[in-house]
Amino acid sequence: MSKTLPIIKAGAPILYKCAKAVSFPLTQDVLDHADNMIITLKNTDGLALAAPQINIPLRLLVVNIPKVAPAKRYDFLSDPNHKAFPLTVLVNPTLTALSEEKTEGWESCLSFPGYRGKVSRHRSLICDWFDTEGTRHSQALEGFNARVIQHEYDHLDGIVYVQRITDFSTFSLV
Ligand code: NI
Repeated sequence: MSKTLPIIKAGAPILYKCAKAVSFPLTQDVLDHADNMIITLKNTDGLALAAPQINIPLRLLVVNIPKVAPAKRYDFLSDPNHKAFPLTVLVNPTLTALSEEKTEGWESCLSFPGYRGKVSRHRSLICDWFDTEGTRHSQALEGFNARVIQHEYDHLDGIVYVQRITDFSTFSLV
């Protein structure tokens, strides 16, 4: 049965380690981790979660970006082109930037509750991933959704957004 797990917070070593690729077919353990991540994410006001954030060192993400912002701290309502990225489990995702163009925007992280900071990210990219059954998917993302996926992908490489902040005066309380 799936359950809500505690989210690993800043300073825990697992947040700074590279996660391992998931092997197919998925084991029941990995399927359980994915279910636990979905439940855990739904019990937060976050939009995405990476497996290392629940102490699982695997390249596994759960993303659930609504069309309308669930909390004031998300500023994507100002983007008329914003689209939902409905609840998706991404196994072994890879990112390919579509251009060198970057954009600055606010980020926050469930592992750094109460803080945010401005980070520069690629404006548009292609995200490839496998679903839990091993089917490959590919989707072009831009703007806020591209930012979220870059933030989450970084978690799989042991990088947290705070390390990406170029102007540290933007690191502040939400
Ligand atoms: Ni995060």
